[in-house]
Amino acid sequence: MDISGSIAWHERAQQSIPGGVSSPVRAFRAVGGTPRYFVRGTGSKVFDIDGNEYVDLVGSWGPMILGHAHPHVIEQVQRTMRDSFSFGAPGPNEVLLAEEILRRVPACDRVRFVSSGTEAVMTAVRLARAATGRDLIVKFAGCYHGHTDALLVQAGSGVATLGLPNSPGVTKGQTQDTVVLEYNDEAGVRELFAQRGSEIAAVLTEAAAANMGAVPPAAGFNRLLSELTQAHGALLVLDEVMTGFRISRAGWWGKYGTQENWQADLYTYGKVIGGGFPLAAVAGSARIMDQLAPAGSVYQAGTLSGNPVAAASGLATLEMCDAELYQTLDLRAAQIGSGISAALSQAGVAHSFQTAGNLFSFFFTPNPVSNYVQAQRQNTKQFSVFFNSLLSQGVSVPPSAYEAWFVSGAITDSDVERVLAASVVAAEAVIAAGE
Ligand SMILES: Cc1ncc(COP(=O)(O)O)c(C=O)c1O
Repeated sequence: MDISGSIAWHERAQQSIPGGVSSPVRAFRAVGGTPRYFVRGTGSKVFDIDGNEYVDLVGSWGPMILGHAHPHVIEQVQRTMRDSFSFGAPGPNEVLLAEEILRRVPACDRVRFVSSGTEAVMTAVRLARAATGRDLIVKFAGCYHGHTDALLVQAGSGVATLGLPNSPGVTKGQTQDTVVLEYNDEAGVRELFAQRGSEIAAVLTEAAAANMGAVPPAAGFNRLLSELTQAHGALLVLDEVMTGFRISRAGWWGKYGTQENWQADLYTYGKVIGGGFPLAAVAGSARIMDQLAPAGSVYQAGTLSGNPVAAASGLATLEMCDAELYQTLDLRAAQIGSGISAALSQAGVAHSFQTAGNLFSFFFTPNPVSNYVQAQRQNTKQFSVFFNSLLSQGVSVPPSAYEAWFVSGAITDSDVERVLAASVVAAEAVIAAGE
């Protein structure tokens, strides 16, 4: 595979951009090799600057749920753009998108738009502290909620990929009100509430952990968080930036919260709701959300928040996210996930194939992973060999052992066959490398 164009651009990029990238995991530091410079995408495929074609199982880390350059989204975005890109004033598109979100998530009455998942969670935390008059935030090791200072403690995703415990530049003061517990540790949560329940403003959790690889909540875990927060006057902030509108038409909560009969107080969204444009949101009951300025006194703002083009893209994307699409995503995730797992088993590679709805990932360890300590026991060298073999065969998956894989509705039967054939070769490469 000729990747000379990507190599040249990446050398050039490092002269002007730290590490050559706008977000760390993209640099391939954990897996080695050169990141591909993608210049075009259509449906399930992406093409690099050298003209190589890849089946895309990254999907821009979630937003491209319909695949690339979906005609309906292009049409709505182009129609909006002809009348300008931004006004910094209220507009109909954001109202229509808010209404669509609320139709899907009846647990919420109000939505406030921001431009990134980081901002959405930051706003939810501020709101939770203001609404409760308390300071303490509880998060779980290996859960990533964006790069806001107070939450960059034992965060998953890029921080895990680079092996950083925490980031320099985050002061003790900024994290002193953040308590980190092990994910899925019911006893730990109960104990903390028993000791400090009246100080806790919010428990913040990924609806299903997917930033340390796919680690679903244990049966009853989210429900316990909901019950304990309620009993102690704290709030549950359910981070659905990854899972929102991907796992079901109403996200993880829409599938499992309704089945298991629990709710959160605040929900954060991103990725799918912008359809590939920068857009994210925090949502919740009117009682809490109306504390945001100007309805209330909790300040939050953004020059490009609710941008009409981003909102048009999000709305057009959600319009295509119907029952059939979710069935397709589940099917493709099952075909690809279990097919790859079979290829690894066949080659004799010990692994744990894990799913969280239609998100999935492979830990190169024989034992199931239910928290961050266990996730860190995986053999990341084996993952790197597997990753690089897949990539060289035209299959693009997340360049980190700590990330979930994303399917799109555009994946075809022949894509599945291609991915599975590549995975047989990649599994053999793992054994041959002897890592
Ligand atoms: C669960 C979760 N929360 C928050 C974020 C941060 O979103 P953004 O990268 O848009 O700031 C992410 C990003 O991957 C995420 O997965």
